Amino acid sequence: MLVRREPPATAARPGPRVLQVAAEIFPLVKTGGLADVVGALPPALAAEGLDVRVVLPGYAAIADSVLHQRRVAELGPMFGAARVTLRLGRLPYSRLPVYLVDAPLLFRREGGPYQAADGHEWPDNLQRFALLGWVAAHLATGELDPGWAPDLLHAHDWHAAMSHAYLAAHAAPVPSVFTVHNLAYQGLFPAGDFALLGLSARFMAAHGLEYHGQVSFMKAGLKFASRITTVSPTYAREIATHEFGAGLDGVICGRRDDVSGILNGVDRAVWNPETDTALASRYSAAQPEGKMRCKAALQQQLGLEAAEDRPLFGVVSRLSAQKGLDLLLAALPRLLAEGGQLAVLGSGDAALERAFRDAAAAQPGRVAAITGYDESLAHRIIAGVDAVVVPSRFEPCGLTQLYGLRYGSLPVVRRVGGLADTVVGATPETMSDGTATGFSFDAATPAALEGALGLAVSTYREPARWRRLMAQAMAQDFSWAVAAREYRALFEILLRPRAGRSAGTPLRGGAGGVA
Ligand code: ADP
Ligand code: GLC
Repeated sequence: MLVRREPPATAARPGPRVLQVAAEIFPLVKTGGLADVVGALPPALAAEGLDVRVVLPGYAAIADSVLHQRRVAELGPMFGAARVTLRLGRLPYSRLPVYLVDAPLLFRREGGPYQAADGHEWPDNLQRFALLGWVAAHLATGELDPGWAPDLLHAHDWHAAMSHAYLAAHAAPVPSVFTVHNLAYQGLFPAGDFALLGLSARFMAAHGLEYHGQVSFMKAGLKFASRITTVSPTYAREIATHEFGAGLDGVICGRRDDVSGILNGVDRAVWNPETDTALASRYSAAQPEGKMRCKAALQQQLGLEAAEDRPLFGVVSRLSAQKGLDLLLAALPRLLAEGGQLAVLGSGDAALERAFRDAAAAQPGRVAAITGYDESLAHRIIAGVDAVVVPSRFEPCGLTQLYGLRYGSLPVVRRVGGLADTVVGATPETMSDGTATGFSFDAATPAALEGALGLAVSTYREPARWRRLMAQAMAQDFSWAVAAREYRALFEILLRPRAGRSAGTPLRGGAGGVA
């Protein structure tokens, strides 16, 4: 996948040194939107003038791609690895400095970052991601690299969350931010494995990592980070409720004043219809003609009826309960009866994979279902469809609706989380005041989704209205520069003398707190 990234502009104000901690990064290792964020946010922070480095597990796909590597520290045997070496190099594409946790026994293996090829979680995930957190924390305390130590640590999701616990164990005066990309994945392990973490017993308590008799890595972030962010303001409010809290709403409420939402952006080096080399034809809001060629090429590639006038709906998604695609399966007969087509690219839940394949077999020419993971096809679907469907039960941010907006493929979304924050559903009012950018619905029911899809189909039949919506969608600017400025403002609050220096210290008066 081609990534066109300009070198970061030199900023006027030198910013703080920030260590980013994560378990995946686009384009090297990706299972979902987390990788897109970790690929885009550090360069955006660097463009804002921050001195940013990233620490990542040394999976083969990363370790074999990082340029100009040199050894920074030899850590010997730990967490079940025969030897751990810390290396520093530069990321291809962005050239950002990156630390690699090189532990071949733990990270260099066939399969995914969290699971074996058969779909089972790696049995030593506790050790693997405890090691990532341990290394990040010790980099932050300045113990591992005599040449560089960050002012602040910023970790993403449960895989990186243990860095906060190890910082707390050191009583290290390094402020930290923990970003929750998805509260539903928590990194839970048997209590008996706690001993492998090398933490004192006081950490295995309700005010620490203990969660209903298990060890929770997610809780390490939620309890010990100085501040918690989520990837949209609405999700930041939602996770304080029983409905969206995934069993951790009590913990979130306990940190109420420290939780805020910063919306993800679109990486324009990767998702831009004007430069996207995956497409049959490039296009822009000013010259949208190429989009029809993308639609025709997609219909041909997927064996769909070559019909310009049929509204083509698309999905690019993990197939999991979160994404609400069972609602789409239920709404499909009505969508097809109204003349629509559907293209689905996804992988995950075997029953959903089968159901979409069955739908495609039953409706050849009208429904196409591709099971698997295909970055280039994802681009061609986002560009070639008329509308991108994201009917999620919950959605911390969601990126495909943002890509849809950018590519003039109108999002049809459930009004939750980041979907609610990024798409303005068409109503008589939003159509007439020119703010509508897509279609939305509230209830997680097939009927509610059918209503939104039906409105999309009838609007599609009025080309002038559809074109107005497309222009409005493509004019949206969900940029990483905006998000990077918000993160920088948050970091600067934490770096003020005496503010947020102790782990988990409640901070009052921060912007966007949970109401
Ligand atoms: P999540 O992180 O919950 O999966 P997001 O919408 O934030 O959802 O991000 C999903 C990312 O993964 C997007 O970049 C999307 O294009 C990509 N993606 C999801 N499924 C596939 C697939 N089967 N093939 C290619 N890309 C996919
Ligand atoms: C998670 C969420 C998704 C979000 C992504 C990146 O995977 O499910 O909503 O867009 O992280 O932050």
